[in-house]
Amino acid sequence: MPVPAAPLPTPLSDEQAGLLNRLTDGLDSSGLWWMSGYAAGMARAQGTAVRPAALPVADAAQAPALTIVYGSQTGNAKRLAEKLAAQGEAAGIGVRLLRADAYPTRELKDERHLYIVISTQGEGDPPDDALALVEFIRGRRAPQLPQLKYAVLGLGDSSYPQFCEIGRILDERLADLGATRLFERGDADLDLDTVANPWLERALSEAKETLKAKPSRSGTVTPLRPLPPAPAFDRDRPFAAELLANHRLTATGGLRSGQGRDVRHVELSIEDSGLHYSPGDALGIWPRNPALLVDAVLDTLKLDGEQTITLAGEDLPLRTWLSEKRELTKLARPFLSAHAERSGDHGLQQLLDPAHKDQLGRVLADQQVIDLLQRHPGSWDADALVAALRPITPRLYSIASSQKHVGDEVHLTVAHVEYAAGDQTRWGAASHLLASAAEGDQLPVYIEHNERFRLPADTSRDVIMIGPGTGVAPFRGFVQERAEIGAQGRNWLFFGNPHFRTDFLYQIEWQRALKNGQLHRLDLAFSRDPVPARSLHMDVPVTETTHKTYVQQRLREQSHDLHDWLQGGAHLYVCGAIAMAKDVHAALIDVVAAHNGNDAEAAKAWLDELQQQGRYARDVY
Ligand SMILES: Cc1cc2nc3c(=O)[nH]c(=O)nc-3n(C[C@H](O)[C@H](O)[C@H](O)COP(=O)(O)OP(=O)(O)OC[C@H]3O[C@@H](n4cnc5c(N)ncnc54)[C@H](O)[C@@H]3O)c2cc1C
Ligand SMILES: NC(=O)c1ccc[n+]([C@@H]2O[C@H](COP(=O)([O-])OP(=O)(O)OC[C@H]3O[C@@H](n4cnc5c(N)ncnc54)[C@H](OP(=O)(O)O)[C@@H]3O)[C@@H](O)[C@H]2O)c1
Ligand SMILES: Cc1cc2nc3c(=O)[nH]c(=O)nc-3n(C[C@H](O)[C@H](O)[C@H](O)COP(=O)(O)O)c2cc1C
Repeated sequence: MPVPAAPLPTPLSDEQAGLLNRLTDGLDSSGLWWMSGYAAGMARAQGTAVRPAALPVADAAQAPALTIVYGSQTGNAKRLAEKLAAQGEAAGIGVRLLRADAYPTRELKDERHLYIVISTQGEGDPPDDALALVEFIRGRRAPQLPQLKYAVLGLGDSSYPQFCEIGRILDERLADLGATRLFERGDADLDLDTVANPWLERALSEAKETLKAKPSRSGTVTPLRPLPPAPAFDRDRPFAAELLANHRLTATGGLRSGQGRDVRHVELSIEDSGLHYSPGDALGIWPRNPALLVDAVLDTLKLDGEQTITLAGEDLPLRTWLSEKRELTKLARPFLSAHAERSGDHGLQQLLDPAHKDQLGRVLADQQVIDLLQRHPGSWDADALVAALRPITPRLYSIASSQKHVGDEVHLTVAHVEYAAGDQTRWGAASHLLASAAEGDQLPVYIEHNERFRLPADTSRDVIMIGPGTGVAPFRGFVQERAEIGAQGRNWLFFGNPHFRTDFLYQIEWQRALKNGQLHRLDLAFSRDPVPARSLHMDVPVTETTHKTYVQQRLREQSHDLHDWLQGGAHLYVCGAIAMAKDVHAALIDVVAAHNGNDAEAAKAWLDELQQQGRYARDVY
């Protein structure tokens, strides 16, 4: 966006401009769009037909003609939507780019040209920021849309049974509502660009054609302050972060030792990177496949790792392609399908039949590329192999520190994916890289911001954090941050893991925080201890139990206080595994319903509302 040399006159006093600066500080583009709409609505309500003469007014031709809405959990759909918006603006098209939760659904009936870029999450669910929009479009209140031209880009992962489900649902529903599909939906797998790039090109050319773009004119948007420089490091240009510390949080780990999971505390330096993060953000890391795994693939297929393979203009030894550029630990449907053909294996071919969808899902979740190659022999030449394997993608880790507290460091809590497959050991690419990294090693990282998982701006609010397992990671950052800024609100943490003795992540830190008044309540659920450890909140009775104790049992036990905190304006956060978050949501419905005459529907609606307001946020994986 061009920045004019001299600021244009504003009707604001210095004090008002300062306040506005504070208000907009840290807002992303969708937040800024929302604010502009909010201000416009207020002006309309005041009936001000005359705009202040000093303000530059965009003419009708410059009013946004194209709306791009994105729904994104981990940033991919957002990045693509932003790219399309920038290209549209550069082509002189008036573009309105909105995160799905900032989209005013009442405007849908007047929309003319709409692009939706949306991922699928959970088990075929919308991303959290798009829950309300998807519900609205699917619901009975959705208007007929005869004037609307649209297209949808769905993002997903073909190893999930419900691949790009949400994109598909929206695409079909908009057509049912009478809208005109401009061109076919894109279903982008994890190698996003393969499908996304042609879709974006088509979207831009259709918009230019339909909206008769005019050459771009500069100076219609005046930033109140200089735009922050683009970060020097991002997903495509990762920073080489030095590992400062790597120690085990669980007593002794590693599946082979038979002593439970290996969970690590990892500290990385981001000194001199210019990278900034807020509690709730994640660190992206580009993984490398374990050398032993690359060797096993080369041995199994009898290929020479030193031969040069050229793909998309890149010449690299096969070994480099396999260790740094291609997924080996995650098996994808397209590769399984290609291998079924090469191996001529009837069983594999049957697996691809829609009737065996569930079985295929289990194979994709439990097996890696090497398992497929070893169990169902087939021949591959090196070029075809590199072309058929999926490009490697970064993994995200919730940041477990506050930058105010740790300075130029990022802390992570990493569950090392390590398991036995017959007499061999299998690893997860990124968690193994992190778990086996030594001090001084450099790892390619970037920050993935997550505006939907933020501490309340009002520091007097209480916060309730539910984070079993590695789900506790962001809450370590939350508690550090709240201590640093002297937040007056109370902090309540629910944590669970298999055993009190071996798996109480950050036990000493939590106990110290309780003592220092930085953590006000801590409730624990050790799922595999025969007698659950006593809640550190002393009112909770110890109960004998033979079944597993999960955090949701603690939520139910604390129903009264929990409800009080929520009624008092507390913000609620859940982080960790998908299945846990679903069960916790069900428990929260029970907690709320217990105080509203057992009306589960109303409790659900109340929690949905909380989510809409940003007072109930989830970060699940
Ligand atoms: C927003 C977000 C935040 C996250 N935060 C954290 C965090 O704070 N801490 C954390 O540890 N993780 C976190 N994750 C998960 C993390 O991103 C990785 O998905 C995880 O570490 C696994 O990655 P990997 O590269 O080690 O394994 P991959 O290489 O991605 O996967 C290994 C593959 O092995 C197979 N597999 C794994 N375990 C088994 C098993 N027991 N039996 C059979 N097959 C198996 C599966 O097919 C799996 O696909 C987060 C994810 C997201 C999206
Ligand atoms: N592929 C695998 O084999 C495997 C195994 C574990 C974790 N993971 C994944 O690894 C990631 C991180 O795992 P993690 O170590 O942070 O945590 P985790 O292994 O998911 O478990 C943390 C705690 O939550 C409990 N739990 C399990 N299901 C629950 C539910 N439905 N509701 C509430 N609590 C539940 C666990 O109990 P129990 O374990 O006693 O049931 C444990 O005490 C997650 O994505 C998880 O899905 C994969
Ligand atoms: C926890 C989790 C659950 C997912 N579930 C699905 C799914 O059910 N179907 C699917 O096609 N993709 C699924 N995906 C893949 C995402 O849609 C894919 O990674 C996408 O690129 C994410 O885009 P986003 O960053 O904009 O959210 C899932 C990803 C995660 C992390």
